[in-house]
Order: sequence, then structure tokens, then C-alpha cells
Amino acid sequence: MRIVFATGNSKKLDEAREYLEPLGHDVELLLIEGKPPDFIEPQTSELMEVALSKSDQAINMISDSELSDCAILVEDSGLFIDSLNGFPGVYSSYVFRTIGLSGILRIMSEEIDRNCEYRAVSVLVINGKRIVRTGVCRGKLGNEISGQGGFGYDPIFIPNGSNEVSFGQMSESEKSSFSHRGKSLKALSEAISPPSM
Ligand code: IMP
Repeated sequence: MRIVFATGNSKKLDEAREYLEPLGHDVELLLIEGKPPDFIEPQTSELMEVALSKSDQAINMISDSELSDCAILVEDSGLFIDSLNGFPGVYSSYVFRTIGLSGILRIMSEEIDRNCEYRAVSVLVINGKRIVRTGVCRGKLGNEISGQGGFGYDPIFIPNGSNEVSFGQMSESEKSSFSHRGKSLKALSEAISPPSM
């Protein structure tokens, strides 16, 4: 299937390709007048609401004729820290841009409970029908920045079962075997072409 991903994040695009292309899908970037779309994010604490709003906005940006032969993918994701009641959550992107990794490490410096999770909500729109799937990756926050791979919080996020290796220290394919995004995309892919028995 031809899947057009509406995102301004090139790392998310790479991860979607890493995941969906081996499953037989072509993944392209949605460009509107040569640029990735700019979404207005609604004020809400729910990733699901943001993802559904992004999918509505993406559909409105594309004409019916362009929609007829492809599926549109949108995704919203974030880091949820248990001891901070889920902060930064839907504000992950803003918090990363403002206080960054060092700011999060500072807020967490005295905290013993370092459990957290990444969550992703992926929405695929095919022929006007929305398919929504979620993915969660549990892990813990490291005490320091480790590695330069991935994006966002990856250098301080250590997924459970990784032998203390952060996402920032993994290759894209290693990350996708754990990742929240990988799980939501796998579920979407199964929804459009269920695995054969
Ligand atoms: P949005 O989905 O574009 O609103 O951005 C989600 C934000 O959450 C990103 O900008 C990152 O800061 C963070 N985030 C979500 N998924 C990941 C991931 O896989 N690695 C690192 N940071 C992530």
C-alpha cells in the first residue's frame, strides 16, 4: 500500500519506513506546497485527541483525488514519567525544545522512581475510514545522556529488557523492536493486511 505520512519529523519518517517497508508498504512524506504540514495541536492532555485532530487536518489539506489511491498516516507521541504524573506527556515536544534533556534530568535528579513510558497513537485514513492503533514502550530514565542516535528523549530513555542500553545508543532497527511507534505501526499494518494463519 502507498502510505503518505503527514509529519514534520524526519526521524519519525525514517522509523515508519524501517517498520512498514519490509511489510510491503511504500512510505512517502506528505508535502503541501513543498513543505511538511504544520498542524495546530488542540489544548488537551490526551494524545488520542491530538492524533485525531491531526488526521482531520491532514485530510482537509489534501484534495479528494489525491486521497483516492493512498492512505494517510498521522501519529502523535510523547514521554510519560510516572513520578511526574505523566509529565511531559502531550507537551513532550515543547518541553524538549525549552528545557531539553538536561532540564528533565535536573527535575528528576532526586527522584528514585525513574519509571516512564513512551506512548504513540497512529492513525491511518483509507478511503475516508480511520483506523487508530496505540503503542506503549515501558522503560526508565537514565541518570545521564547516553548515545546520539534517535531523537528527542532517546538518549535518556532506557527501554525495559534492553540491558541498560538507551534508545540513543541503538540503531534504528534495534529501536524499532522495542518502540511504541513500531508497536502502533505493526498493529495498523495488521489491521489493513491481517497476518495469514
Ligand atoms: P509530536 O508527536 O510531534 O507532538 O512530538 C512528540 C514528542 O515526543 C517528540 O518531539 C519527542 O520530544 C517525544 N517523542 C515521541 N516519540 C519519541 C521517540 O521515539 N523518541 C524520542 N522522543 C520521542
